[in-house]
Amino acid sequence: MKLLIEIEKLSKSFGKQRALDDVSFGVNNGEIVGYVGLNGAGKTTTIRIAVGVLPPDSGDVSIDGFSVTKDKRRASERVGWVPELPIFETDFKALDYFVYLAGYYGFSSGEARKLGKETLERFGLGNALEMKLSAFSQGMKKRFALAVSMINDPPNFIFDEVLNGLDPQGIAFFREMALDFKKKGKAVLFSSHILGEVQNIADRVVFIHRGKIIGSYRVEEILNIVKPSIVLKLDRFDEGAVKLLEKYGKVERQGDLATISSPSASSGEIVKALVESGYSVIELRHEERSLEEFFFSLLKKGGE
Ligand SMILES: Nc1ncnc2c1ncn2[C@@H]1O[C@H](COP(=O)(O)OP(=O)(O)OP(=O)(O)O)[C@@H](O)[C@H]1O
Ligand SMILES: [Mg+2]
Repeated sequence: MKLLIEIEKLSKSFGKQRALDDVSFGVNNGEIVGYVGLNGAGKTTTIRIAVGVLPPDSGDVSIDGFSVTKDKRRASERVGWVPELPIFETDFKALDYFVYLAGYYGFSSGEARKLGKETLERFGLGNALEMKLSAFSQGMKKRFALAVSMINDPPNFIFDEVLNGLDPQGIAFFREMALDFKKKGKAVLFSSHILGEVQNIADRVVFIHRGKIIGSYRVEEILNIVKPSIVLKLDRFDEGAVKLLEKYGKVERQGDLATISSPSASSGEIVKALVESGYSVIELRHEERSLEEFFFSLLKKGGE
């Protein structure tokens, strides 16, 4: 598969603060990658470098083979992006501003108005076409920025904290949009704190911590690692029971309950083994684990 967005050995410091330290990863053709890290981890810095608004100290980003540092114009016209906090301090009305921006891409004003109406309606802003952008709420600005990023139908997209400030409808809409881009073979990179949603949207998640990449995992891989735990209540918890359960994973006791994390067998098999050894299972349930737990276990491994 061709790598459409390729981030190569990026380093960037602000004064003494090393924001990025040798950051490399890529986004493939038709792939959606989530970019996850704590506040200040370096996500926005990576993204600003990738779209050509911030120069790196060293390293480079290539977009469809065009270097952001050496051929910024061609690289950046091939990527649509939405910043963390889109600012539209303008008295322009939404549709007029869309038309104005579309002018840059060579649309005639008639075409631009038609495209603007369609796109803004699709983004749930159909009632706000004549509203001043400065009066838009943060979520509306985000929707508007998304609409604008699509004007020239670029083959790649980079979104910074795009889910932040969107209502559930907006999030669902973003998800559909990302999946549609994927179907069209575009590369999509988006940073987010909302891990539950990242898991629903992304194919792969790249984790950054203190300016360093600490892991890149396919979502299926993560879901496999964070398999639901099994919580059991038995008629008695003697040493034999604990030993038996420990064969299937890490066991934690809490009152009269035992939790097996990342179990190596199905609950059916475990119950069968228990019953065969003379125990009765009084209660059994599964406890979902999340990307969040996975993320925190990665941080722990990294020496946090
Ligand atoms: N313009 C700047 N001047 C000085 N320091 C900066 C600047 N931009 C970022 N930094 C520093 O670089 C580090 C990474 O910041 P960055 O904005 O990339 O983090 P982030 O992962 O996007 O965080 P958040 O989740 O809060 O958006 C932080 O320590 C931040 O203070
Ligand atoms: Mg940020």
